[in-house]
This record gives sequence, C-alpha cells and structure tokens, in this order.
Amino acid sequence: MNDAFLKSYQTLREVYVNGAFSSIALNKTLYNCKNRDRALITKLVYGVLDNDIRLSYIISKYVRKFPKGDALLFLKIGVYCLTDLSLPVYAVVNDVAELSKLSGDRHIVGFVNATLKAVSQNAKQPVEYPTDPDEYLSVRYSYPVWAVKKLVKDYGRDTAAAIVSHSAENKAVARFVYPTTAEQILQRYGIHAENTCFDDAYFVKGSLPSDSADCTFQSLSSIAIARICARSTPQSGTFLDCCAAPGGKSVYVKQLKPDLQVTSCDIHPHRVALIESYAHRMKVEIETVCRDMSVFYAEWQRSFDTVLCDVPCSGFGVLDNRPDIKLFRENKDISELMKLQYSILNNCAEYVKVGGNLIYSTCTIFDNENGQNVRKFLKEHPDFTYGEILLPEISSADRRGFYQFLPHKEGMQGFFVAVLKKIR
Ligand SMILES: C[S@@+](CC[C@H](N)C(=O)[O-])C[C@H]1O[C@@H](n2cnc3c(N)ncnc32)[C@H](O)[C@@H]1O
Repeated sequence: MNDAFLKSYQTLREVYVNGAFSSIALNKTLYNCKNRDRALITKLVYGVLDNDIRLSYIISKYVRKFPKGDALLFLKIGVYCLTDLSLPVYAVVNDVAELSKLSGDRHIVGFVNATLKAVSQNAKQPVEYPTDPDEYLSVRYSYPVWAVKKLVKDYGRDTAAAIVSHSAENKAVARFVYPTTAEQILQRYGIHAENTCFDDAYFVKGSLPSDSADCTFQSLSSIAIARICARSTPQSGTFLDCCAAPGGKSVYVKQLKPDLQVTSCDIHPHRVALIESYAHRMKVEIETVCRDMSVFYAEWQRSFDTVLCDVPCSGFGVLDNRPDIKLFRENKDISELMKLQYSILNNCAEYVKVGGNLIYSTCTIFDNENGQNVRKFLKEHPDFTYGEILLPEISSADRRGFYQFLPHKEGMQGFFVAVLKKIR
C-alpha cells in the first residue's frame, strides 16, 4: 500500500473523526514518516481539508446517494489527487482503491473504485459551479457559505472574493533571539531561508531544534503584535498579557524589553503550564497566573502600562495553518465568541493605568469580532480613545488606531489589532 496515502488518510481521519487540530495531527504524522513522503503527505492533508466543500460538491455529481464516513474520506483523497495534483490517474485510482480495503467492506471498495474511475474520465473538464454568487464562492473556494456572506457584508463582493480565493502558502517563520547569529544557525542546520519584513525573522524550509533558546517558530502576526506591545510600553514598565498561552507574544515582549515586568494569564491551568515551559526554554522570566480574565481582580486595577487582550476568536485569519477551521466553525459560534471577547476587553480595561494602552487583537477577519467590539468599547468607555499602532515595518498599519491585516494584501496571516489609549 502507498505509505504516503495511508499516513495522509490516518491523519485526515484524526481531524474529521476525532476533531484533532490539523496542524497538530500533521506534525505528529510527519515526525514518524520517511523524508521522501513528507511533502506529499502535507500536500494531501492540507489540500483535502482546504478543498473540502469543493471535493464534496464534485463527488455529489457522481453518486446517487452521498457517501459518509470512510467511503467519503477515500473519495475526497482520490478526487483531490485527480483534480489538483498531477499524479498519474491509474496510480491514484489503484492506490485509493487499495486504501479503501482498510474499510473491510467490499461494497465500499467497489463504490470508491467505480466513482474514482468516473471522476477520472472528466477530471480535466471544467466543473459546473453553482450560479448563485455566494454559493459559487463557497463551493469554488471551499469556504463556508455563512462566512462568505459575512465577508461580503463586511468588505463588499470584490474584496470578499479576493479574500476567499487567496491561497496562502503555509510558510514557517523562524525568529532569532540574536539576529546576528541567524545566518550561522541556518547554515548549521542546512536551512534555506528568505527575509521577512522583520530583521529577526525568516521564512524557513527545514527543521530547527525544538529546544533551542536562540530561535523559535513564530508567525509574522504574532511577531507584529508583540512588537506593537513592546513599543507601546515604557522601558521598565508593566505589561499584562491577558490571554497569553502558549506564550508566544509574552516571551517576545520580554525579550524585546528585558526590563519590563511581564504578567501572563490564561484561564486553563494546562495552558498556563505551556507558557511556563516556553518561557523556561527561551530563558526569560515572566510571572504566570491562571485566571479567568473576564472576572475583575481589584488588586490589578490601574496597575499596568500596557494590557494585551489577544482574545480567543474564530481563527479565520489563520486558515493557512488550520484549514480545518473552515469545516468545524459555525455561524452561531461567532456571537458566543463576541460575548467572551467583549467581556475580556471590558474587564481588562480596568487594569490599564491612565496614559497607558489597551491592545486588542485577534487572528480573524470578521468585523463582528474585531471593529464591532472595538467600536462598542469606545462608545461605552469615553476614558479611552484610539492610540497608535507602532509598526514601521508595515507602513499600511503604522500609526493607525486599528488595522485589519488581510492575507491577500499584506501577505501574512489575517489578524486585527487596535490600540486604545486610556486618557483619564
Ligand atoms: C488566541 S489564544 C492566545 C495566544 C497567545 N496570546 C500567544 O501569542 O501565544 C487565546 C487564549 O485565551 C485563553 N482564554 C480563553 N478564555 C479566557 C479567559 N476568560 N480568560 C483568560 N484566558 C482565556 C485560551 O485558553 C487561549 O490560550
């Protein structure tokens, strides 16, 4: 049996059946597989998840009764290989038919084989997509239709189409604690690297040691937010990271301004432990606290120069790394998230000193979770006004009060940031 197909199937099953995060499930698989299979497994796993709606639509055109469970998964893998990868048709049909024997059901094997043969005969023909414009974007680019409608409302149809049609490459970014040592470390591990807009971070292909205190994987969005936070805080001031786990931003803020007193909170004890182990690995000292940050703690009132609320969100800005978000998030989740986001922002505003900054960030692109929360906050808190995003590396965002990063525009993950200054 084709090992790359088998491992891809097992990984996809973890995501579809057991609800595993795609990035975590894939990393586990890649850790235990042959080097030569890595690229294909990554392509197959991310490709099937990212194209899920379109693959189901194509399958629906070839079957009388829409399949479920493993039969559907075998077909998604096969149809993705036939329509999106230039693998030989006979090999795909044979390999997936072989894979389908894992079901132990000869009806499934026959059904998968016959359906893939039928798809393969038309694989190069254009697909007839739905004519309704929202349905078209949803099926063509495998984006949930409720999310398409939201984006059309927030940005207009042209930008919504640009957002959903953008296929971001999942590029790993390594950040180096001492930028002058980057070249030496990259050479030592034989890593190919490209510059990013930040002088201490590179796009990298290859693996770096996971226990090093000198370099770490960190997304450009996380680097940007941490830099904004550090620059908004006086040299030996106080910084509170309210939703801090696994600690990427807290640790970097402390590295950028070692004299800061950094306090990092999270609601879950096991996630506070993640902050602690990351801080330990990176050799920085930060205070960690396990707290529900939607609840008021009087001892922190007006105590911090900068408070970061990097709140839980729908994650539609990080689909390059987590395409499974498109499968499992539902429209009704957004209103629940908005309530939680607002209650954290509203409560943590109390902890900002007069003259200090409250920084609100998410890794999503829906106005409900971003601008709408901030506008409501400013309306209800006349003691706050827009401050300034200090990010000269990205001129479109620099010196604005708030900014929505969009992958097709800035070429990085979609995220939102607002700097809110406490004026009295
Ligand atoms: C977007 S993640 C934060 C990422 C983090 N800032 C970083 O850069 O590594 C959101 C975090 O908020 C935490 N969280 C959710 N509800 C919370 C609450 N009520 N109080 C504190 N933390 C909460 C989650 O456990 C999760 O770790």
